[in-house]
Amino acid sequence: EKGAYEHYMLKEIDEQPAVMRALQQVYLNADGTVEIDDEMLTAIKNSERIYVVAAGTSYHAGLVGRELFEKIAQVPTEVHVASEFAYNPPLLAEKPFFIFLSQSGETADSREVLKRVNEWNYPSLTITNVPNSTLSREASYTMLLHAGPEIAVASTKAYTAQVAVEAILAKAIGQMKGLQKAIEFDLKKELTLVANAMQIMVDEKYNMEMLADEYLKTTRNAFYIGRGIDYDVAIEAALKLKEISYIQTEGFASGELKHGTIALIEEGTPVIAIITNELTAAHTRSNVQEVIARGANVIRIVMDSLSQDQDQIVIPEVHPLLTPLVSIIPAQLLAYYASKNRGYDVDKPRNLAKSVTVE
Ligand code: F6R
Repeated sequence: EKGAYEHYMLKEIDEQPAVMRALQQVYLNADGTVEIDDEMLTAIKNSERIYVVAAGTSYHAGLVGRELFEKIAQVPTEVHVASEFAYNPPLLAEKPFFIFLSQSGETADSREVLKRVNEWNYPSLTITNVPNSTLSREASYTMLLHAGPEIAVASTKAYTAQVAVEAILAKAIGQMKGLQKAIEFDLKKELTLVANAMQIMVDEKYNMEMLADEYLKTTRNAFYIGRGIDYDVAIEAALKLKEISYIQTEGFASGELKHGTIALIEEGTPVIAIITNELTAAHTRSNVQEVIARGANVIRIVMDSLSQDQDQIVIPEVHPLLTPLVSIIPAQLLAYYASKNRGYDVDKPRNLAKSVTVE
């Protein structure tokens, strides 16, 4: 039921802080350790490499997962688009572990890959929002997203739930391996900070509506840019905007723009920069200057400690590997208001279905 909300998408955006709290309840013990099936953790620990397989927004959550699995759990990780993997699998490590990310648990492209993985007898985990879904039944293990039903076609709370579950899993793997970094990764504290930061961002609706109105009302194209984990978010932010507002939007690595794509920047082209990483903030800011010099209208989404006076969207400080959970929210809201302002059906964009059960 969407109740007082005009659209499910806005309701689901608003539910994200509560989903973070639910995940803490489900997966974290009082002492901050993680409660996850030991047999599954052992299977991951005994593998050499994680292969994340997913589609669309879930694939984008996987890109953030790679950062978490590599940096917190020290497991080399590859992320693959399911439809590409199915008929052109990469050369696999000798002991692979597969993770399928899927809100619905029914995506045909991912099911096709899991079929092969089962034929090869490799262990797998499905992370999904739907208990007993096909991908859940066919994988060796399941973790649930506990996000509640997601009705809007554009995925929002499932993305942040996927990233949070990946963080929890990364901690559990690292904890089992006895890694100091994983033991110190205090998810009770960090996810509480995230939930509070998310609340602050979802309360910025009026400002996001004004920005969408000013920057995205009539444009035909737009760009999101970022580096590292902000690039992972840029790709998801671009998908959100394009799928419901029909503005042609691309997510780009900030430093890569000047190698060709910058030719597309014209007077008035919206460019939205995500800046949450201390190491690369200055570089991205200089890329922002390059597009401003060519006439771009720039919106900056910046983490508090790195923010400057003219930045329009400032996100509260959270753990550097968890910034996607917060920086995606203004992008979700910008997409929502851009679609609404343009008079489109926000919850049911043209040509799209909630779950894609054909290859
Ligand atoms: C975009 C979106 C899609 C899905 C994709 C995978 O907002 O919702 O890109 O993420 O179709 O679906 P699931 O996660 O159900 O496998």
